[in-house]
Amino acid sequence: MLITLPKVLSIAEVRQFREHLHNAEWQDGLSTAGSLARHVKNNQQLDDSQEPAISLANHILKALACTPAFVSAALPDRIYPPKFNRYRESETYGAHIDAALMQIPGSHLTLRTDLSASLFLADPDEYDGGELCINTQHGTQTVKLAAGDMVLYPSTSLHSVSPITRGVRVAAFFWIQSMVKDIQQRELLFELDNSIQKLTAELGPNHLEVVHLSGLYHNLLRQWATPS
Ligand code: NI
Repeated sequence: MLITLPKVLSIAEVRQFREHLHNAEWQDGLSTAGSLARHVKNNQQLDDSQEPAISLANHILKALACTPAFVSAALPDRIYPPKFNRYRESETYGAHIDAALMQIPGSHLTLRTDLSASLFLADPDEYDGGELCINTQHGTQTVKLAAGDMVLYPSTSLHSVSPITRGVRVAAFFWIQSMVKDIQQRELLFELDNSIQKLTAELGPNHLEVVHLSGLYHNLLRQWATPS
């Protein structure tokens, strides 16, 4: 299931990000491609060990913590500090699957990639091409979102970024290890939580069935979550 999260960053925040990213020094993306992606990657990345990447990544992590739909959908256990990439005309990232395990920079922690995230930082009218194409059980889905919006998708999916034919595509991307490893269990919990939120708005938090369903949600979470 692909999950779109609108307005993770506001228009003002996106504008700030773009200023920093415009003035930053970009590197060839190949320098950070793992063995799985080396043959298909053609883009630019920021050095994440330096400013402005560090501050911008922290800003995104704070924004995510204040985005209930992200917490509900991902049930995050560990989040890889967001990275930044840029695609100019004719640049592309061919079909690949992200590495299963990643070392979190500056720590001894390993992260299992359960979910991949792309946070768009350029508006769709700024560039042509550059769609994120994700293979799902319902066929290939293409994603191109407004600046500030984010997509979450299972890291098990084959995906690519189609070639840019005009303009520049800028985005942040990162991975999440979820407290609920099983994708079906995680999606059931997300759907249940969505319904509980809607019922709570309609009936109030003290309605007997709302209390009952909330309890059910937490008892399922207790069974399925394995926080590290
Ligand atoms: Ni990827």
